[in-house]
Amino acid sequence: MRRKLAAGNWKMNGLKASLAELTALAAAPAPSQTDRLICPPLTLVAQAAGVSGGIAIGGQDCHTATSGAHTGDVSAEMLADAGATSVIVGHSERREDHGETDALVRTKAEAIWAAGLTSIICLGESLAQREAGETLDVIGTQLEGSTPDAATGANTVIAYEPIWAIGTGLIPTLEQIAEVHDFIRAKLVARFGEDGNAIRILYGGSVKPSNATEIFAVSNVDGALVGGASLKATDFQAIIDALDAA
Ligand code: PGA
Repeated sequence: MRRKLAAGNWKMNGLKASLAELTALAAAPAPSQTDRLICPPLTLVAQAAGVSGGIAIGGQDCHTATSGAHTGDVSAEMLADAGATSVIVGHSERREDHGETDALVRTKAEAIWAAGLTSIICLGESLAQREAGETLDVIGTQLEGSTPDAATGANTVIAYEPIWAIGTGLIPTLEQIAEVHDFIRAKLVARFGEDGNAIRILYGGSVKPSNATEIFAVSNVDGALVGGASLKATDFQAIIDALDAA
């Protein structure tokens, strides 16, 4: 009942020439069960939206306000105007580099909805938290605090991204991924009822063509949020194909 989602997060990577990767992806046949999304840097959002064909385009962050005196920031309405349909919020790099809290992430998610876009809300534990046995506590607290009350399958995607797995080549065991995804699903259903079953839960952190198939076989993994391996069309296409076949 949930469509799958392959989401690429280019982070602070990509110049105009990188749009060739997007046009290469757009030239591939559309997968039957999988939605595709690329979140390029802000400078490329509008151009990306013009060449992406069936691939949706997203932002990587936004301000809580619609407009105003916030030098250097961008609003969800501006991202929508540029052609974005989703925005990542609460990525661990934003939480770490910019001190973003669960409360701020929640407010941003509501601003994204107000602009008619989908929020991709990121959660994840640090290595110290995992080693201390705190993973489910941390994820539960972030999920509760970062997700607004009106979340539905249409306006919200959750991304579980263990911080220690991002960009490191390390991934949790498949049992560990299943434990967290099942936990998130149970929490969503307890809070949102049937809507909680419709919200997609992505895994993120060192997803590559070589590990995609085994990760996508895990229960309650509805897709992936992919960093490094989304920068090359051939790698990201292999991940899309693995997801669509799962
Ligand atoms: P990675 O990043 O795939 O490069 O580990 C994932 C992410 O941070 O979204």
